[in-house]
Amino acid sequence: MRTIHTIAELRSALNAERLNGKRIGFVPTMGNLHEGHLQLIDQAKANSDVVVSSIFVNPLQFGQGEDLDNYPRTLQQDQEKLASRGCDYLFAPSDAEVYPHGREAQTQVEVPVISDMYCGESRPGHFRGVATVVTKLFGMVQPDVAIFGEKDFQQLMVIRRMTEDLSLPVEIQGAAIARNNKGLALSSRNGYLSEDELDTAVNLYATLQATANQIKSGDKDFSELEEQAQKRLESAGFARDYYKICRRYDLQPAGADDKELVIVAAAKLGPARLIDNIQINL
Ligand code: PAF
Repeated sequence: MRTIHTIAELRSALNAERLNGKRIGFVPTMGNLHEGHLQLIDQAKANSDVVVSSIFVNPLQFGQGEDLDNYPRTLQQDQEKLASRGCDYLFAPSDAEVYPHGREAQTQVEVPVISDMYCGESRPGHFRGVATVVTKLFGMVQPDVAIFGEKDFQQLMVIRRMTEDLSLPVEIQGAAIARNNKGLALSSRNGYLSEDELDTAVNLYATLQATANQIKSGDKDFSELEEQAQKRLESAGFARDYYKICRRYDLQPAGADDKELVIVAAAKLGPARLIDNIQINL
């Protein structure tokens, strides 16, 4: 695997691949890689000829008081993991390479409506930062296909909408959530949790499964189900963020006639804010 730090070098390497008729698959990340990321690499490999991953801790998507400064930077271990899964190129640019005019002067990409709810409400400006950096990374890598984890379901929706609205020639694929043997969705932020908190964290997915089962059994009182779930999470030790039963295609609150649903949830546990979701087909 070749590690590249500049846009110029990346373009020249990938232009050569493209001239050879290669289809480029792309997995953008912020590093501190776990098995969930590596499954995205597997999916990219299965859907392209050349796999590019990026590691860039994007300052634009962190709010004030969030964990930008403490976000784990583990480049060497990440390089080993990516190489072991057959990734061809790692693009690891500096802040100055990505934002040469500084963050304040950067043109930004805003995806309205869908960016403003749920995680967007708890983290104002977060999805603007994500949409901006992903648009830039698409311009740098020019991939044919890009893979994003479904754990960040709202992020995936924002990126799909942005790609469609800006007519970007990139196929966006979602990848199923990777979980540990107790059901906890793998996340870089799980590393902030103590052993006890990790035991508690599994309640998030267990609660989502319980709500999904209630809905599948015919319960359509969605606001009551959301409130029950919030109380269950609180008694397990979480602090509330959001818990919403939504229609899957636009993440608006689900109605009784909707058949394709997703329950999206975020809750705070100790130092971490965990998110997860579950999809339901009725
Ligand atoms: O999901 C992430 O790791 C980040 O939000 C992404 C898509 C790499 C953009 O910085």
